[in-house]
Amino acid sequence: MDTLIKIESVSKRYGHNHDGVLALRDVSLDIRAGEFLSIIGPSGCGKSTLLKMIGDLLAPSSGRILVNGKTPADARRAREYGIVFQSPTLMEWRTVARNIELPLEIVGMPREERHARVHALLDLIRLCDFATRYPAELSAGMQMQVAIARALANQPRILLMDEPFGALDEITRERLGRELLDVWTRTRVTIVFVTHSVPEAVRLSDRVAVMSSRPGQIKRIVEIDLPRPRTAATRDLPRYWELLREVRDVLGLNEGQDGVC
Ligand SMILES: Nc1ncnc2c1ncn2[C@@H]1O[C@H](COP(=O)(O)OP(=O)(O)OP(=O)(O)O)[C@@H](O)[C@H]1O
Ligand SMILES: [Mg+2]
Repeated sequence: MDTLIKIESVSKRYGHNHDGVLALRDVSLDIRAGEFLSIIGPSGCGKSTLLKMIGDLLAPSSGRILVNGKTPADARRAREYGIVFQSPTLMEWRTVARNIELPLEIVGMPREERHARVHALLDLIRLCDFATRYPAELSAGMQMQVAIARALANQPRILLMDEPFGALDEITRERLGRELLDVWTRTRVTIVFVTHSVPEAVRLSDRVAVMSSRPGQIKRIVEIDLPRPRTAATRDLPRYWELLREVRDVLGLNEGQDGVC
């Protein structure tokens, strides 16, 4: 598979020299076009920092990031990114459809095309019946689905997700995970997904990048060689449990090591 995002020896220091915080040290990672890559690691290890640098919301202190050969700033201008954070940040005074429509208004898409696109996105997240509802009328899970649809509105090549399901209950989280896989299969968008949940990372991903504590480095990349589509039956596979164990081992979560997640 072709490399879409190339992260080359990236370090990030917040603040100035001696009283600064070295958040990430010498991180290199190639993210493949179309893959589902998760990043997992202890709190404060620099996952959000890394995601923000990919998305041009922060600049690296050293090293560089290339997105399809372009700088993150150029990729952002070319609308290559959709971004979803833990909080859906919808506009309360706009209906579901008009929230999804907003990024299309911003780029000046003609009205009819906009409406067709919004309809397709509502269909993608299976919320057509809620088009005219307001965010306050939706469950937390549905609000997150709307945030995902909005992030996909401009058909980005890359979806950056920072613990999108972290605030949801376990049942909703699993359902949204399955639906995200469905969206990913249908759009072939490249997903970079930050999570604290080992089972979630293993269930969803093609690869899991496991980070060490601050200054964050990539300790290991675990290839998740489970068959797709991933279903409830995936959990019956011995390989699923082996992979869970492997990721937990790298995180130091097994056998009395200090817990981090
Ligand atoms: N704006 C900032 N100014 C100074 N230090 C920061 C800033 N943002 C993050 N940091 C520091 O950089 C380190 C990495 O932060 P980051 O938010 O990337 O971690 P994280 O892995 O996403 O953590 P969590 O899992 O808790 O979300 C932390 O030690 C944090 O305190
Ligand atoms: Mg974070």
